[in-house]
Amino acid sequence: MNSRAKPAKSFGLLYIRETKIPRGKAVMSETVKIIIEGNEYELPVITGSENEKAIDISKLRDLTGHITLDVGFKNTGSTKSSITYLDGELGILRHRGYSIEDLAEHATFLEVSYMLLYGHLPNATEYANFEDQIREHTLVNEGMDAMFKAFPTGSHPMGQLGSMVNALSLFYPKSLDPHRAEDAIGRTVIRLMAKMPTICSMIYKKRNGHPTVYPQNKLDYVSNFLNMTFGQVTMDYKIDPVLVDAMNKLLILHADHEQNCSASTVRVVGSSQANLYSSIAAGINGLWGPLHGGANQEVLEMLEKIRLDGGNVQKWIDKAKDKNDPFRLMGFGHRVYKNFDPRAKIIKKSCDEVLAKLGVNDPVLEIAKKLEETALTDPYFIERKLFPNVDFYSGIIYRAMGFPTDFFTVLFAMGRLPGWVAQWQELRREKQPIARPRQIYTGEAARVFVPMNQR
Ligand code: CMC
Repeated sequence: MNSRAKPAKSFGLLYIRETKIPRGKAVMSETVKIIIEGNEYELPVITGSENEKAIDISKLRDLTGHITLDVGFKNTGSTKSSITYLDGELGILRHRGYSIEDLAEHATFLEVSYMLLYGHLPNATEYANFEDQIREHTLVNEGMDAMFKAFPTGSHPMGQLGSMVNALSLFYPKSLDPHRAEDAIGRTVIRLMAKMPTICSMIYKKRNGHPTVYPQNKLDYVSNFLNMTFGQVTMDYKIDPVLVDAMNKLLILHADHEQNCSASTVRVVGSSQANLYSSIAAGINGLWGPLHGGANQEVLEMLEKIRLDGGNVQKWIDKAKDKNDPFRLMGFGHRVYKNFDPRAKIIKKSCDEVLAKLGVNDPVLEIAKKLEETALTDPYFIERKLFPNVDFYSGIIYRAMGFPTDFFTVLFAMGRLPGWVAQWQELRREKQPIARPRQIYTGEAARVFVPMNQR
């Protein structure tokens, strides 16, 4: 495009130059001209390695005195990143170039974690070393037991997880130093990866009033977690390979999702040079909300409610469409995916497989399928491009595996951990500045203070 278009009266935005775009990294490839109150300014356009484009406004305020306003960051790129690529229109999700379909089909969660953390798929030696390092750190300080005891009965598992992960920073005070050597930070990363399944399974055990099952380091990452969760100190637990496969797949499908709410939270908190544990704890709290990772719990509760209400799917679809009713179809819709969520496709397929393999016949699966079918043919959902997301079917698998509903988001957090850490590392290594958005003030203009006795 060029600048032959008419300049707008007070504000305009025109492409003025296009150059050949080298693939492989974000480059400045074009510029746009912005016209504000008759003055023209030229801003660079950044092109990503998949040809995504962004207008670089980093100098906008200095040049023009204006800021941009984008509530909810619907159009705002907060960073360049080489971790995950997502095309919401085409339903594409790739980590470091590898498709989510291939990863879910062929890799283990630990392999994907390594790839997210270190940028490439591990060879056999790298994988063995990574696994060994993790095994060394699976225990948590016994002092954490006392913290669990302080939580009131019925405390939500996500509240416990956020608190425990934050508390790790107190058990490892050296982690507070933002200027530690790279290998010391690497050890914190390993510690966190190693302790996360232990903490998650402790949450499960404590709420049942059962003693902790310690890590068995002869087991692989996922089997160890299942053993600590479902095993008992009094007897051996037979690890079901069907559960191990399903768990690996579910964790992989949650491993990263670029600049979502919780990852952005991790980055914002990390940008103040807060330590890794606390930055991740912040991400866990961001994930907890029902519009983000907490949706998996909400979906199951919604499906149960529909079942107990007689299974009238249309009634609930109508409620979701009613603007006077706060009810939303949980597990539907996505900020970025506007065609389908590739993770949901994979999960739906494995939901049928896992339930069949486990011999579980869950009536809510039928309700979920009916709900999906009805919504996908309804103009309200079609027009708004609302499709099932990753959380729609995952809860049904978690439930078949034996996890309680309010524990589902903990499993999401366990899967998302390597992604959060990779995002935090990228931010730190690239020395990104502290996150500090601006605002448009809409309150009172300056007022004269009137003392209390004169009001
Ligand atoms: N049920 C009914 N209507 C919906 C839904 C839904 N689940 N989601 C969006 N809409 C409507 C919304 O009311 C709005 O309608 P209108 O244009 O008439 O005002 C329109 O669709 C656009 O919605 P939005 O809220 O502006 O979209 P958003 O991008 O801000 O929100 C979302 C995305 C995921 C928060 C939202 O779709 C939602 O609340 N979904 C249900 C919660 C959920 O499943 N969350 C999990 C997301 S995937 C896991 C993850 O977080 O990574």
